[in-house]
Amino acid sequence: MTERMKEVKASDLTDNLIRLIASDWMLVTAGTREKFNTMTASWGGMGHLWNRNVAFVFVRPERYTYDFIESAEGFTLTFFDENYRDALNLCGTKSGRDCDKVAEAGLTPFFTGSGLPAFTEARIIIECRKLYSAQLTREAFIDSEPLNKHYSAEDKLHKMYIAEIVRVWKK
Ligand SMILES: Cc1cc2nc3c(=O)[nH]c(=O)nc-3n(C[C@H](O)[C@H](O)[C@H](O)COP(=O)(O)O)c2cc1C
Repeated sequence: MTERMKEVKASDLTDNLIRLIASDWMLVTAGTREKFNTMTASWGGMGHLWNRNVAFVFVRPERYTYDFIESAEGFTLTFFDENYRDALNLCGTKSGRDCDKVAEAGLTPFFTGSGLPAFTEARIIIECRKLYSAQLTREAFIDSEPLNKHYSAEDKLHKMYIAEIVRVWKK
């Protein structure tokens, strides 16, 4: 962890969580020291489930990051200040399959004490441990509007990951 980061309780995060995810966006990062990948996400949430603090994210199976989340025990969510909007745009439009987007985005990776990849530029780092995952299905939609708006007939739907918030770090 960088020395400017301080560990805080998830319940002590004062940021508005909806704004944090929907407007500021986050990086979802998973993998090992040998190989990891990151992508921008703005769909997800944080809350309380099974008496644990949890985060949930939605990742399309075609994302390169999906493979890393699938094979890892956990992942990090990192949040940045507005100066990093271009970096987040880049990580949300290029694939790690095609380029070294972390380098292109000017981000500096490091590994947390539990070995999860994160970035020194982040202002908030959330370490997550996967608890549950489920592929969204067309049949489960009650209102078909989001289904029709966000998925074509051939599209695979997102996979949802519910993960325990294990540690939170803040600058
Ligand atoms: C603002 C923004 C939000 C995004 N949110 C999500 C998301 O919640 N889930 C998702 O699967 N993809 C999301 N994406 C798309 C991925 O970030 C994008 O496809 C990325 O290039 C995947 O990179 P990868 O192939 O290296 O994993 C978002 C993109 C942007 C720009």
